[in-house]
Amino acid sequence: MPIRVNLNGKIVPAEEARISVLDHGLIFGDSIYETLRTYRGRPFLFSRHFARLEHSADGVQLQLRWSKEDIRREVERTLASEPQGPHGEESRIRVMVTRGAGPLSLDTETTTDPSLIIIVVPLKEVPSETYERGVAVIVSSIRRSRLLADIKSGSLIRQVLAFSEVKSKQTFEAILLTEEGYLSDGITSNIYVVEGNRLMTPSPEAGIVAGITRGVVLDLARNMGLDVVEGLFPPGEMDHADEMFLTSTTREVVPIVSVDGKTVGSGRPGPVALALLKSYRASIAALLEEG
Ligand code: PDD
Repeated sequence: MPIRVNLNGKIVPAEEARISVLDHGLIFGDSIYETLRTYRGRPFLFSRHFARLEHSADGVQLQLRWSKEDIRREVERTLASEPQGPHGEESRIRVMVTRGAGPLSLDTETTTDPSLIIIVVPLKEVPSETYERGVAVIVSSIRRSRLLADIKSGSLIRQVLAFSEVKSKQTFEAILLTEEGYLSDGITSNIYVVEGNRLMTPSPEAGIVAGITRGVVLDLARNMGLDVVEGLFPPGEMDHADEMFLTSTTREVVPIVSVDGKTVGSGRPGPVALALLKSYRASIAALLEEG
């Protein structure tokens, strides 16, 4: 399945998709985005992603010119521009809105033409062995600022640098601490620590992105009778963990079995993570109907 690009409502081959070098998205990282995925070829939890895109737009004073239905239609047109692969491959969808082109000025009022860019690529599914074995993570040397942390901004230089640490240590993900040293998010995921019946996860105060997957998983956890605690946690909390896991749109619920080379719990995926993965997958069909 080739990369599909929708640039301001026009579906164009990726190599022909061009925007101005004066777009503030390029010059200042002045853009916002969402990452969605499909199940059964259909966008998953679009309304929740759109709500978060609106939240990001408000947070950076960017006027969204496109309604929810406009963006939904463009996402669906882009997906439909290529038939789904013969094996029913799913897609990863990036919806971006840039500030638009203007002079070399930080003044947001100098730009006039924000761009809506939708990029659809084949989704790289996490292999089933990864869920069965669990993953190693590191704590990044890069800290996350709590300021504007809940906004999915295209300024991702900290994440880019944290990812190079992940690559050099050959781990699956890195955990970022806040500047004050509390647990925050993974580079592009939310993280969780389980101790007995307690499921702890950094709260919005810890500079996290309020993950769409996190929202679903915390509801499932409460329904399973777990005691969900959101808060500010020091990294030492991980030393007492029975188990840990992470969540994101593209990776669902992934058990973490070591942090910086130290074994978490039994060193095997824990029962809470596995139960949540199972019930997350079981709830997908119903959630697809939410639209
Ligand atoms: N990342 N925390 C951060 C910092 C993220 O960037 C993301 C999402 C999440 C998980 O959110 P969700 O469950 O809505 O995917 C948490 C996406 C996948 C990305 O950056 O492409």
